[in-house]
Formats: sequence, C-alpha cells, structure tokens
Amino acid sequence: MWKGRFSQDTSSLVEQFGESISYDWRLFPHDVAGSIAHARAQKNAGLLTEEEFSSIEKGLREIEADIVAGKFEFRTSLEDIHMNIESELTKRIGPAGAKLHTARSRNDQVATDTRLYCRTEIGLLIEMITGLQKALLDRTEKYAATLIPGYTHLQRGQPVTAGHHLLAYVEMLERDKSRLADCRKRLNVSPLGSGALAGSTINLDRQAIAEELGFESVTRNSMDAIADRDYIAELLFTISLCGVHLSRLSEDLILWCSSEFGFALLSDAHTTGSSLMPQKKNPDVCEITRGKTGRLTGNLVNILVAVKGLPLTYNRDLQEDKPPLFDSIDTLRLVLAVNTEMIFAMELREEKCRAAASDPMLLATDLADYLVKKGVPFRHAHELVGKAVAESVATGTPLDQLDLAAIDPAYGPDAKEIFSLERALASRTNPGAPSISNVQSEISAWKSRLA
Ligand code: ARG
Repeated sequence: MWKGRFSQDTSSLVEQFGESISYDWRLFPHDVAGSIAHARAQKNAGLLTEEEFSSIEKGLREIEADIVAGKFEFRTSLEDIHMNIESELTKRIGPAGAKLHTARSRNDQVATDTRLYCRTEIGLLIEMITGLQKALLDRTEKYAATLIPGYTHLQRGQPVTAGHHLLAYVEMLERDKSRLADCRKRLNVSPLGSGALAGSTINLDRQAIAEELGFESVTRNSMDAIADRDYIAELLFTISLCGVHLSRLSEDLILWCSSEFGFALLSDAHTTGSSLMPQKKNPDVCEITRGKTGRLTGNLVNILVAVKGLPLTYNRDLQEDKPPLFDSIDTLRLVLAVNTEMIFAMELREEKCRAAASDPMLLATDLADYLVKKGVPFRHAHELVGKAVAESVATGTPLDQLDLAAIDPAYGPDAKEIFSLERALASRTNPGAPSISNVQSEISAWKSRLA
C-alpha cells in the first residue's frame, strides 16, 4: 500500500509483529459500512461516477458476504482489516477500488470502525444486562417474603428479605446500563473526514457520511478525533464496574451455597463436582465470574496505560486498544449469559433462611428504637440494649427470653413484641426500606421498567 517510498520488503518478523488482522477482522461489517458511506460522499462530490460507486458498493457487499460465509482469505501481509478489504476490492473491481481511499486515512477509518463496533456491542450488552435483571426479578418475586439476615462486616445485622437483597443487584445493573447508554451517546460522533490528522484538501460532506452511519454529529477537531480513545477507556471502565457488581453477587452466592449459610441451591446444571470428593457440589460459575473480574480490570488498566504517554495524534501503540476492548466485551457477554441462566434456576432453602433470620439479636436495634419511642435518648437506649446483649451472651439466654424489665424499668411488658420478625419488617416502610409491601411495589415497578 505504501510501496512508492520503499525499496525493501517488510521483514517477515515485522509483518508478524505488526499485524492486527488476527483480531481486527471482526470490524469488517463496520469497515464495509464506513467505506460505502465514504464512497457515496465521493460520488456526491463528483469524484466517482455513478458506475464506479455502484461497483465499489457491490464489491464491498460481496466481500462482506464472503467474510460472513468464511470464504475470505485474510492476509497477514496486508496487516489489518482495512487494507485486506481495500486490496481485495481493487483486485475484484479494478481501478475504481483504487479511488476509495481518497480523502481518507486508516486513522479516521479505524476510529470510525471502532466507534461503530462499540455502539453495536453496547446495545447488545444493555439487552443482556436486562436479561440478567429479569432473572433476578424472577427470583425476587419467588422469594419476596423469604426472611434472611442482612449483614455488615459479614456479621448478622438486621433482618431483610431475600427479595430485597436480590433487588439491590437489579439497581446496580440498572446503573451499569445507564453508564453504557451514556458512553454510547458520547462515542456516537463521526471521525470520518479527519484524515490522517489534518482533514483533507478534498472536502467531502462529513455530515452526510455521519448521517448514513447513524452518528449523531461529526467530531470538531481532526487531531482529537484521530488520537481519542476515551470512549474505549470509558467502555472498559463501565464493563469493569459491571463485572465488579457481578463479582459481588458471585461472592454472596458462594456464601449462600456454603454449608455454613445454606441459603441457596444452585442447579446441578450450573455447578460442578469434585474428581476426588464425592460429596462436593461447587459453585464454579460464581467463582469464575469473580475471577474474570480481574481480567476486566486488567483490560481497563491496559488501555489507560497504553494511551497515557502518547503525543498527539495517532501512534501505532493505539493498535493495542483492540485486544483489551474485544476481550472485555466477549468476557462480559459470556458472564452475563451464564449468570442469567444460573440465577433463573437458583432455589433458596427457605427454612434455612428463616432459621438464620430468627436470631433475636437481629432485632437489638429495633429494641433500642422501642426505648427511643418510650422517651429514652438513643445513646442511652443503645447502652441499655448493649447490656441486655452482654447478658444474653454471658448466660446463653436468647435476647428475647431475658427479663428485660429487670435490666431497666424503661422496658415495658410490650417490649417482647419487638421480637416479631413480621412486625419488624412491616414497620420498615420508608422508601428504600425492606418491608414486604415495599418489595412488592418495587417488583411491579421493575416489571414495567424492564418490559
Ligand atoms: N491497524 C491499525 C490500528 O488498529 C490501523 C491504523 C493504522 N494507521 C497507521 N498510520 N499505521 O490502529
């Protein structure tokens, strides 16, 4: 493609070292779409005849179909997807193909292709995250009233329901979707026409090209447009954070599946056994999900470090943007698919959940609130209940069986009623609190939101 200036062939080692076709081939539908839009603008500017444009469009569509059918031979010597397609086009249609690269560089071409690719993938990721939210919502409905302890420091804190716990993840995933949509908005800008870095003396209609490709607008600075990889960093951050959310969910489920907790049962289809210990049923999907989050974070760091020291504008380092981008997208898709299937099939062991939630210590705070309602200042109430807890621990008498009135006269005979779990939950009615009626109305709100 640049033979004019060179008198030696590229070393085959350099060819191997510098190729990106082994991974950027997947940009082909976007490369074809971008080239067709670019060619149409050339035709409209009088640079291509109607016939030349038609043969370019037809040639590109045929190449695209061949790639889809697995009949296209990618050549490492042609480095990347852009040159593979352009060179094949010229081979197939002759001189018109050689006109295609007028007023264009691979620098604005690759920026265009990558933005189009990200835009498409973001749409798919949003759909898949919605699928996982639906699985969580399905389990939330089934276990809306299943009481479990809520934890801080992994120590039992206060009672909640499994539904409320699962809905917390639905919230996180909704924020992930909104971050993805936000990222899509910012990246949906056309760099085509920025050339190598300084536009072109041949001024094609950038706006028309952008419209054909579904971009909202055109980039406003050719140097920024060529050098910018913010959208990749943003997308990889958003994907990492979604991975972090799923890793936390995994950790919860791993705990819930342990004999010590015993709250959850994953299906046989989503667990594995041990080659040695016959009794084992391991939550590998959760563990691999947790493990893959390290990889997603690594990819984010990869792009940030790759861009960090680069002077404007294009530097070949930027070719290294795609492996982490593709890997994060592929990884998250896999993680979402398998977790969706696994969550739909997950069962809770309600009697185990209930038994754990029935620990009267979970209502120690409610007992302090009871004293506050009797006029005791909260700090004093906290101390009084603390003493009762200490006595319970020392004597082995459950908190709800203690003679509270003997500890302090502030406790009335109605203090015992505090130890009703149903009552404890039913009184948590403020927005965001875990009362079963709140959870029910959240379920219907999410149902219409995710429909
Ligand atoms: N394969 C290159 C990449 O992905 C395409 C752009 C090459 N541009 C250049 N000036 N060498 O970044």
